Amino acid sequence: MKGVILAGGKATRLLPLTKITSKQLLPVYNKPMIYYPINTLVKAGISEILVIMAPDYAGHFLRLLGSGKDFGCKFSYEIQEEPRGLADAFIIGANFIGRDHVAMILGDNIFDYDFSRAISEFNDGALNFVKEVQDPERYGVVEFDENKKVLSIEEKPAQPKSNFASVGLYVYDSKVTEIARNLKPSKRGEIEINGEPSVNNEYLKLGELTVEIFDGFWEDAGTFDSLLRANNYWAEKVKN
Ligand code: TTP
Repeated sequence: MKGVILAGGKATRLLPLTKITSKQLLPVYNKPMIYYPINTLVKAGISEILVIMAPDYAGHFLRLLGSGKDFGCKFSYEIQEEPRGLADAFIIGANFIGRDHVAMILGDNIFDYDFSRAISEFNDGALNFVKEVQDPERYGVVEFDENKKVLSIEEKPAQPKSNFASVGLYVYDSKVTEIARNLKPSKRGEIEINGEPSVNNEYLKLGELTVEIFDGFWEDAGTFDSLLRANNYWAEKVKN
């Protein structure tokens, strides 16, 4: 299993914090944000990690992270010239992924959870982690039956069909690179993981999309309030 961290994007919702640096370099209590997704992957047993960055602050990421030795892993780096969408991670990362499985984590998603069992048991197809939330309309929403068979997946639906949000960690077999290459942009002009069309909807059509419910800590730290919650959570955890 290889790991990919998608740490580009524009981070417009955090302006002016992100006017002179990248969102994923901002502090979350006592560490730069990107340390958290790195640690989530390393803790899950993944040791080869591709970091995808926007061009502007790429040098800062390299200086901060280096070879990966300090984290117990090996880093590779790629630049995403334009934020074309989350599924672009699999096109940019195609050579890195090769014929292996891949776990892709969003660079602003902060977890406190051990995914190692789920990741070591993964065989093929697609695995998404979902968490029950109060405000599903903000996320990719997954509808599934009592056997955890996925029925639908919709990006930010006005009328969510469930309260389960797809969190920013996705596990796929190697055909994800081919699926991503063949995706057309959605209405909002991005190649998507959850919208229509999207990587997950392609796996759903193949009958290969599975979900696992998880109830650990998760914040998508892309807004002032969620960034503050992530800071507070780790401040408490580190001190106690
Ligand atoms: P978002 O939070 O959806 O986008 P953003 O970071 O550009 O922020 P904003 O909406 O405030 O402008 O992105 C989620 C994560 O994925 C984040 O870590 C940035 C990353 N990302 C990319 O690296 N490339 C992309 O093309 C997109 C869409 C996101």
